[in-house]
Order: sequence, then C-alpha cells, then structure tokens
Amino acid sequence: MDNLNKIVIRANKTDPLVDLDFIRKVKILNHGSFGEVWFLIDEKSSKEYALKVFRENCEPEKIEKEVDLNKKLSTLKNSHDYFVFCYGELIFSDFEGPDLSEDKLGLLFEKADGTLTKYLAKKPILSFDELLNIVKCINDGLLILQQNFQCSHLDIKPSNIVFQKPIEKDDLPKFKLIDYGETLFIKSIGTLAKGITIAGTPHYFSPEINFAYFNGTDTTNAINTYKSDAYSMGLTIIETILKRKIKFPKNQKGEERFDEKIHDPRSVEMGPYDNFIGELIEEIKGQYQGEAGINDFIELIGEMLKYNYNKRPSFVEIELRIRKILEVEKKDLDRKVRLLENMKEGGENVEELKQEVEKLYDEKDGLVKNLDDLKEALSQKEENEQKFKRKYEKIKLENQILLENIKEIKKNDPKEETKEERSF
Ligand SMILES: Nc1ncnc2c1ncn2[C@@H]1O[C@H](COP(=O)(O)OP(=O)(O)OP(=O)(O)O)[C@@H](O)[C@H]1O
Ligand SMILES: [Mg+2]
Repeated sequence: MDNLNKIVIRANKTDPLVDLDFIRKVKILNHGSFGEVWFLIDEKSSKEYALKVFRENCEPEKIEKEVDLNKKLSTLKNSHDYFVFCYGELIFSDFEGPDLSEDKLGLLFEKADGTLTKYLAKKPILSFDELLNIVKCINDGLLILQQNFQCSHLDIKPSNIVFQKPIEKDDLPKFKLIDYGETLFIKSIGTLAKGITIAGTPHYFSPEINFAYFNGTDTTNAINTYKSDAYSMGLTIIETILKRKIKFPKNQKGEERFDEKIHDPRSVEMGPYDNFIGELIEEIKGQYQGEAGINDFIELIGEMLKYNYNKRPSFVEIELRIRKILEVEKKDLDRKVRLLENMKEGGENVEELKQEVEKLYDEKDGLVKNLDDLKEALSQKEENEQKFKRKYEKIKLENQILLENIKEIKKNDPKEETKEERSF
C-alpha cells in the first residue's frame, strides 16, 4: 500500500464525524455519468470506503437529490441492510501530479463488493434461491423507498445494484440499491407531474417513461412511477437470469424500442414488444424447469413487464408473492425430506442426498432471515400509519362536530331552511 495518493479534507460533513487523517485513494472503481467513484482506504484501521466524486459541472439538483435521500435513509432503522450506508459529504482536494487540485465534492459511502453485473460474471449458475434472494432484495429496497419516503428510484438497472458478501459463509449476500440521482419524491400517489425531465437509462425505461421520453413530458401528467420501477426491476431480473443484456429491436437511427412512441401504454393493453418479452420469459422457464414455485415466479415476472402499468403488481404484492413462492418451495423440501426418511428406513444410502437437502434448507434460512429484517425496517412505517390514522380520526370527529353545528344553525335559521327547500 505504498505511495497511495493522499487526499486533503477541507470540510467533513459526515455523521458521526469520520476521522480521515489516514485516508488514501487506492484506485478509481468506476467512471459514472456524474463523475467517478473512488476506492479509499484508511491505512490505520484498514477500513474501506467508496467516495462518489462529482464532476465540477454536475447538475446541483442531482447532487442535492442524492444527498437528500441518503440523509433520509440514515434516519431509518436498519436501512444499511438495504442501501449502502452514506457517511456524508466531503470537500477535499487531491494531488494531481505534485500540485493540489481544486476543491472537489464527494459523498462517502461504505464500500460494497461490486455490482450485480460483477456478481453474475463470477457466478456460473444462479440457483433458484439465489435468484429469489436478488429479486427480494431489489423489491425490499423499492418498497422501503415507497413506504417511508413516497419515493421512486427511476434508474433501476444491474449497475445500480451492488452486493455485499455475507459474514457467515452459508448466508446469502445482500443486494442494495445505489445511485439516487434520478429519484423522485412524490407528494401524491406516485404521479409524474408535468414538466419533470425524463432521465435515467433508456434501455431500462418502462413503456410509459419511454413514451414520455419520445413524445415530451407534457403528455404524461399521470404516471404511476412506482410501477415504472417495477418494470425496470422486471427487465433487470430477466437480464440477471439470462446473464446478458437484452437486445430490443432498434430503428434506423439506432433508437431502442422506438415503436413504443406510438402506443400510449396508458390506453393500450398490448405493447409492440410483448411477444419478444414473452419469448425471453419462456427461456427463463426452461432454465429453472422442475423448481417448485417456478410457475408462480414466471407469472410474477410477466406481470412486472406488462405494457400497461395498471396491470403490474405493487411492491407489497410482489413481496407477498415471493413469500408464497418460498412457502411452496419449503413444502416441496419437506416432502423430499419425508421421502428421504422413508428411504433411510428402507436401508438405502442416502447421506449424499441428505446433505444436499440440508444445504437447501440453509439457503432458505438466509432468505427467511432477510424477511425478518424487512419487518423491522417497515415497523417505522407502521408507526407513521398509526399516527396518520389517529390524525385522520381526529379530523373526522372534528368534521362531524362541525356538521352537527351547521345542522343546528340551519335548524334555527328560517332563511337557511327556505334556501334548502328551494334547491330541491
Ligand atoms: N458504495 C459503493 N461500493 C462499491 N462500488 C460502488 C459504490 N457506489 C458506486 N460504486 C460503483 O460506481 C459505479 C457508479 O456509481 P453510481 O451509479 O452511484 O454513479 P453514477 O455516476 O450515477 O452512475 P451512472 O450514471 O453510470 O449510473 C457503480 O455502478 C458501481 O460500480
Ligand atoms: Mg449508476
């Protein structure tokens, strides 16, 4: 670790304050559209960090969005199980040759072990449980954003999902959502208001976002952006399973999914690429043939990719359906164990098979553990709901009293009576 580049911290808005005296830049992890992500190490404690360094001319709103959501997430209990932890902002300079650079702005994060893309590149086969874990983690993140902050991510894709290896060897890794530059806080039920700029990554756009992208946002004053995230998640899952980037047909100008420009997904049920998506889903089915719960899974992915967003499932529904698939799998495992026990009584050598089943049980334990985590993360939301309910009940009561008072006044006011009579 000799000669690692020292960075000079000018302002350290981290919470709790991070001691960065021994921090060094190891290398650039990635070049993104907003700048670069650096791999930092604290040479004293060996703690690793990822620093998202913003380009000088990066739009301030994007940085604000990212800072804002990270601050909000830090107030949520257990959020680091679903999102990489953000320590805060740094203003710093580093040595470009012998000279110190101008001041730069960066966001300091815990370092993940790589993106979903990298994870898949290292994994020759993805078991059905590993796949369900990935889907569950992505959906959990989106569900938490929706339920706690009424926020859509709007840039779900494999390179915006990172993984962290489990501490226990037999546990499953955690997959976390990153990159909040396109997130949208929604005041009322997931609507994309007029005039919102369409950004994100066109390849993963939902049909309604793509329609707005090609036709201009003025036509899109009622998009349920949560369902847009559900579509991008569906595409990401397909690519996760097939381990390749899907190639949608392009027009002569090289524009992907151009035919979606003329099919408004708010009024059209069938999309121009539905058959193409159907074929991909069939391919997936073939890959996991024989797995208990695969039919339910296939149906779920198919619904996430419906052209008309009203037909797509909500994150809560996705969560419940994943739980159901797990139950179906668990029942199937129990049946296999019973079968094994019977074979054992029959005196056959079943050790190998038994080990196999035990391994499957361990994997399932990991999934169940993740389910419990989510319960805690959502408990804050339940608290808020209760508060909201109490407030609503209070307003209802006040309104009732008010109405009764009005009735009373009307009864005692002859003018009011005649007005009422006249209106009939
Ligand atoms: N906490 C982290 N740990 C490890 N790698 C990270 C971390 N954060 C980001 N990266 C890496 O840096 C890449 C870019 O990060 P991020 O998506 O936040 O930036 P971006 O500029 O918004 O990217 P893009 O516009 O290309 O989506 C990620 O795809 C990932 O490879
Ligand atoms: Mg990104």
